[in-house]
Amino acid sequence: MAETTAATATNFFLDGNFAPVDEERDATDMTVQGSIPSDLSGHFLRVGPNPVHIFSEEAYHTFDGDGMIHAIEFHAGTARYRNRFVQNEGFKLEQAHGDWLYKGMNSMLDPTPSRVPEGAPASKNLANTAFAVHNNTLYALHEPSQPTVIRLPGLETEGPTDFDGKLQHPFTAHPKVDQATGEMMTFGYSFQAPYVTYSVIDAGGKLVHSTPITIAKPVFMHDFAVTGKYSLFLDFPITLDIERAIAGGPALDFEPEHGSRIGVMPRFGTDADVRWFDVETGSVVHTANAWDDGDEVVLQASRSKTSDIAGAGLAAENLDDTQGHLYEWRINLKTGTVRERPLSSVRCDFTRVNDTLACHQTRYTYAAVFNPQRPFSFDGVMKFDDDTQSTTIFEYGEQRFGGEAVFAPRINAQEEDDGYLIGFVHDEASNQSECLIIDAQDLASGPVASIIMPFRVPYGFHAGWVAST
Ligand SMILES: [Fe+2]
Repeated sequence: MAETTAATATNFFLDGNFAPVDEERDATDMTVQGSIPSDLSGHFLRVGPNPVHIFSEEAYHTFDGDGMIHAIEFHAGTARYRNRFVQNEGFKLEQAHGDWLYKGMNSMLDPTPSRVPEGAPASKNLANTAFAVHNNTLYALHEPSQPTVIRLPGLETEGPTDFDGKLQHPFTAHPKVDQATGEMMTFGYSFQAPYVTYSVIDAGGKLVHSTPITIAKPVFMHDFAVTGKYSLFLDFPITLDIERAIAGGPALDFEPEHGSRIGVMPRFGTDADVRWFDVETGSVVHTANAWDDGDEVVLQASRSKTSDIAGAGLAAENLDDTQGHLYEWRINLKTGTVRERPLSSVRCDFTRVNDTLACHQTRYTYAAVFNPQRPFSFDGVMKFDDDTQSTTIFEYGEQRFGGEAVFAPRINAQEEDDGYLIGFVHDEASNQSECLIIDAQDLASGPVASIIMPFRVPYGFHAGWVAST
C-alpha cells in the first residue's frame, strides 16, 4: 500500500492522484507480479508537474507545477526506482525562500505584487513536460524555456542549455530526432513575432540552422512533425491573445475561424520555402509520426474536432469533440492536394512510435486511451496497425488510470514492435501505483510484469525511454 495519501482539493489538478508528492525517494526491492524481462535494459522515465509552493490553489494550472521525474532503471530482470525534482533556478529560489515567488499562468494579471527577486529569471523553467534524448544527452523539456540537461542514472539537474548561445527561441517539448542522420529538429512559439522559430541541431549537438516561420497570429503550437526530407508546422486555431486576456477573456482559446493549415518546409529550408496546405479545421495536440512516401508527405496524429483549452480541458460534457482520434493527412507536393481521414475511432492521445524510426515510415502507433467521461484520464493503452488499419487495446480495469506508455525496444530487437510498452497506472480504489510492462506484440494478454510501487506516483505528462548503451 502506498504510504502517501492522495489529497482532496477543490482544484481538479491538485486532487486525488493529480496531487503532488513531497519527497524524493529510492527503492530497489519492489514487489513484482510476473517477471521483469531480462532483455529490457535502460531507464523508463516519466515527468510531470509536482507543485511545491502554490500562489493560489484555486487558480493553479497543471502546466505550472514544478517538474518531477520518476524513473525506473531496468537491468537483467531487476528494477530500481528514483524520483527527483528538476532543480532549475526558479525552483531552488522558492525552496530557499520557503514560499511561492512565481504566481503561475492563470494569475499573471493578479494585482498581488510579484516576489521574483531582482536578477532572477522572470519565469520558472519547469522542465515538467517531456524528454528528448540526443547526442547521448537527456533533456527534460518545457516549451516556453530552454532544454534542461539531466544526468543519468541519478537524475541530477545539470541545468538549461542554450547550445553555446545559438538557441534564440523557446524550445518545444516535442523535438524530433532522426536517427538516420543523428539530427534533432526543434521549434518554439512565442506571443511576439516571429511567432515561430525553427532550428536544427546536428548529430554532435551543435545548433547549425535556424529560421523564423511566418504565421498570421500567435498560436499554441505544442508539437510538430518531421519526415526524412521535410519539417511540418501545424498552424491550427488555438490562438494566443494577450489583449483578449487583458479584456477578461482567455489567453488561449479555440478560434475555428482562424482555419487550419500545415506548413511543409525542407529540413534546412527557410521561411520563404514553406508551402502551406489548408486542411479541415480541428485541433492537434500531439503528432505520432510523419514520413515521405513518393510525392506525398504523410502525417499521423491525434486530432479532435475542437478544443476546450480555455476551460483547461475540464468541460466533461464536451469530451466527444475535444478528445482526439488517430488521423492521417497525405499531402501531395506535386498536385498540391491533401487527403485526410480518421484512422481509428478509439479516443486517444499521448501518441508514440518506436523512437528509433521517428521521421521515417512506421507501421505501429501506440497511444493512451481516453476515459470518455472524465477529463485528463486514461483507461488503457492502444496499438494501431497501419497495415491492417486495426486497433488493439489493453484496458487497465475498473478505477485504474494511466498516462503515456513509452515503447522500449528489447535488446537486439528485430522488428518494429519487438519490445515493451511501459507506463505507470494508479488504482484509485486502493490508492496504489504500479508500473506495467506490456509485450508490444501482445497487448491483449496484459502486462508481463507489474511493479507494485512503494510510493504513490502522481499522474503526469510524458514518458521517455533511454536504452542502456
Ligand atoms: Fe506534449
